[in-house]
Amino acid sequence: MQLQFKVELKIKPIEWLNGKIKFINVVKLPHKLEYVVTDDLERLAKAIENLEIRGAPAIGVAAALGLAMVAYNSKARSVDSLRDEVEKAANRLRKTRPTAVNLFWAIDRMLRKLREYRGKDVNELKRILVDEALKIMSEDIEANIRMGFIGAELVDDGDTILTHCNTGALATAGFGTALGVIRAAVLQGKRIKVIATETRPLLQGARLTVWELLSEGIPVTLITDSMVGYIMSKGLVDKVFVGADRILLSGHVANKIGTYTIAVLAKEHKIPFYVVAPTSTIDPVSKEIPIEERDPNEVRTVLGEIYITPRNVPVYNPAFDITPPEYITAIITEKGIARPPYEKSLRKLLGLK
Ligand code: MRU
Repeated sequence: MQLQFKVELKIKPIEWLNGKIKFINVVKLPHKLEYVVTDDLERLAKAIENLEIRGAPAIGVAAALGLAMVAYNSKARSVDSLRDEVEKAANRLRKTRPTAVNLFWAIDRMLRKLREYRGKDVNELKRILVDEALKIMSEDIEANIRMGFIGAELVDDGDTILTHCNTGALATAGFGTALGVIRAAVLQGKRIKVIATETRPLLQGARLTVWELLSEGIPVTLITDSMVGYIMSKGLVDKVFVGADRILLSGHVANKIGTYTIAVLAKEHKIPFYVVAPTSTIDPVSKEIPIEERDPNEVRTVLGEIYITPRNVPVYNPAFDITPPEYITAIITEKGIARPPYEKSLRKLLGLK
């Protein structure tokens, strides 16, 4: 597909600065646009754990750049000891978050480069790893723009689109997935309105999606998560676009907690429900998806600051849920649109038998 529009990336969430990584600490948004620059792997791992860097594609890109950073700054004098250092860093990064498959996909891609190198030149291997990480980052931006315009074909002028969590530039290397579709539709001149869910408990919708859309002048209205059914019953939503953290070949989609509820409500109200994700989010191997459980205080408090419950209330805090394929109208990727039955269409997109 030829892109007819020049896309300007207004938000650069993560950058490579010759051995250092610069990223937006999204925990501080919308009140403060704070950049962190680091060459410390543990700082980066903590940033992923604490959601300073979050969103499946962004986590993958950060992990790849993290391994490149370790290699670039290594004092190793042999290829074997460089390999040991990078493998150790990869093991640390694997432990940061369990659900988004992009993390493991990016780490495995970096480790393939590391392991297949047969030479003895440490500097050459360092260059290979940095190049691969930069490729992962630029491919993510390209994939987002591509699937943004593919998905925009499903958007009509005048549509009101409901989205959940944050799938924008801040969740990727740039442009966004589901929010990328909205951006692309706006670039095509379509008049779009967005309804953003707050996304309890960490409020990625209220803090990040709203910030991104307001700063680009795209009309957005914020609702709490529990309002979705009511506004759908009132006919106020034309389409739903969400992102994904892991997609199985069966078409089961893990995404931010609350997505499943929205999908069921969309089906009940005959509203198309679209998932937008790069093919790096498709897990061609697993049959099950590990769901991250996070700190109970995320639910007991508002952003760790003010307790809104008795301090000792037991809490269950799964960060993601799984939407079964029967609720999903289509899955939009940079390689095209998959429709049910997903086992067949996703395999075809990935070039698998
Ligand atoms: O816990 P988070 O903020 O990392 O969760 C993010 C999401 O669930 C997003 O919807 C998903 O990663 C798609 S982002 C392009």
